[in-house]
Amino acid sequence: MFVCICNAVKDTEISKAIAEGHNNIDALKQELDVATCCGGCQPVVEFMIEEYADKFIQLNPKLFKEVA
Ligand code: FES
Repeated sequence: MFVCICNAVKDTEISKAIAEGHNNIDALKQELDVATCCGGCQPVVEFMIEEYADKFIQLNPKLFKEVA
């Protein structure tokens, strides 16, 4: 499902980027260009960060320690 319509970014791409350590909005903007046009997707992206980052941190704490 597309989350960022402006830049054609899907939820799967966002969750993958979060899992790779892009666990804040600025990192995701830089990595995927989400929320860089109209900004309408930003609340959803921030929700995904809150939902997924904690789970991925628990799975791979070393990765997030290096990025954070
Ligand atoms: S929908 Fe993501 S910037 Fe417009």
